[in-house]
Amino acid sequence: MNILVTGGAGFIGSSLSDKLIELGHKVSIIDNLSTGKIDNVNGKAKLYIANIEDKNINKIFEREKFDIVYHLAAQIDVQESINNPVYDADVNILGTINILENLRRYGVRKIIYSSSAAIYGEPKYLGIDEKHQTNPVSYYGISKYVPENYIKAYSKLWDIDYSILRYANVYGIRQAPKGEGGVISIFMDRMFKNKPVIIYGNGFSTRDFIYVEDVVDANIKVLDKGNRHIFNIGTGTATNINTLYTTMNRIMDKVIEVNHQKERKGDIMHSYFNSEKAKKVLGWEAKYSLEQGLTKTIGYYETQLDNSLEYVAISTS
Ligand SMILES: NC(=O)c1ccc[n+]([C@@H]2O[C@H](COP(=O)([O-])OP(=O)(O)OC[C@H]3O[C@@H](n4cnc5c(N)ncnc54)[C@H](O)[C@@H]3O)[C@@H](O)[C@H]2O)c1
Repeated sequence: MNILVTGGAGFIGSSLSDKLIELGHKVSIIDNLSTGKIDNVNGKAKLYIANIEDKNINKIFEREKFDIVYHLAAQIDVQESINNPVYDADVNILGTINILENLRRYGVRKIIYSSSAAIYGEPKYLGIDEKHQTNPVSYYGISKYVPENYIKAYSKLWDIDYSILRYANVYGIRQAPKGEGGVISIFMDRMFKNKPVIIYGNGFSTRDFIYVEDVVDANIKVLDKGNRHIFNIGTGTATNINTLYTTMNRIMDKVIEVNHQKERKGDIMHSYFNSEKAKKVLGWEAKYSLEQGLTKTIGYYETQLDNSLEYVAISTS
C-alpha cells in the first residue's frame, strides 16, 4: 500500500516506517525534524520536511495519493504544553485538522492516530480500559484528545475509516531522553554517563511501560482490522520506578547513585492499561516483558557507544 507516516523521523514513527517498508509498503514521511532526526529515516522512505500545520502539504497529498495515513507527528512534551499552550494546540490540534482536511480532499481511506494515556487524566480505576472517562489534566492531554473527536466526526461526515491507538508509556531504541514516557531514556542517558538518576517522591508510583516493537505491531494489526475503534495499547503490568531503577542497574551491571526529590505537582501516582479489547478484536498483545525490552534497548545503546568510541580511537590514531 501507499502509506504516509507523519512524524516518521521520530522515535515510534521511524520504527513503524522501517516495519512497513520491510513488509513491502511504499512509505512517505512528513516531519519537520523538530525532535525527529534525519538519521532515523529509512533510506527507502521518501522524506518531506514540512510542518503538518502548513497548508501547502496538500501538494504532497495531491502527488502521492496515499491509501493510509499514520498520524504520529505531535508536540509530545507535557511541560512544553504548559509553557507554550498555543504552540502545543497549533501542532496537535490544528495540525491534525489539516491532515484530516487532506484525507477528505484526496480520498485517503483510513487514518491511524497515535493517542495517549494522557487523555484519561487521574485514573478512576486500574487497569484503565477504553470506557474509562476522559479527563485530561495537562494541555498535552487535551491536545491529544481533541483530535480523536475530529477524527470521529470526519469519519461520520466523509466516510473515512480510522483506528485510534492510545499508548501507555512507550520506550525503546531511538527515544530521546525527554517528553512522554521518557523516564527510561532519561535514566538510560544518565546511567551511561555515570550520573545519578533522579526519582521524584518515594519511587513507588507505577507506570505501564511498553516496548516500541509491540506498539509498532499494534499499528500493523490495524492496517486491515479495527476500523472505527479505539484501543488501549499497554502491557497491563504496573512497574514502580524503584523496580525500574534496580532492573536497569542489574542489566547494565552498575549501581548508579539515586537522588530522591520532592514529588512533582500534577504527577499521576498509578497508571496501567487493560488491553483486552486489542487482544479480542486485533489478536494483539504485548510480547516483550520489561526485562526483555530493556535488555534490547540497553544492548542497542551499548553498540552505539562502542561505535562512537571506535570512531574516536580511529580519528586520534
Ligand atoms: N513516547 C510515548 O511514550 C508516547 C506515549 C503516548 C503517545 N505517544 C504519541 O506517539 C506519537 C509519536 O511520539 P514519539 O514518542 O515517537 O515522539 P517523537 O518526538 O520522537 O516523534 C514526533 C515526531 O513528530 C515530528 N513533529 C513534531 N512537530 C511536527 C510538526 N509540526 N510537523 C511535522 N512534524 C512534526 C518530530 O520531529 C518527531 O519526528 C506522538 O503522537 C505522541 O503523542 C507517544
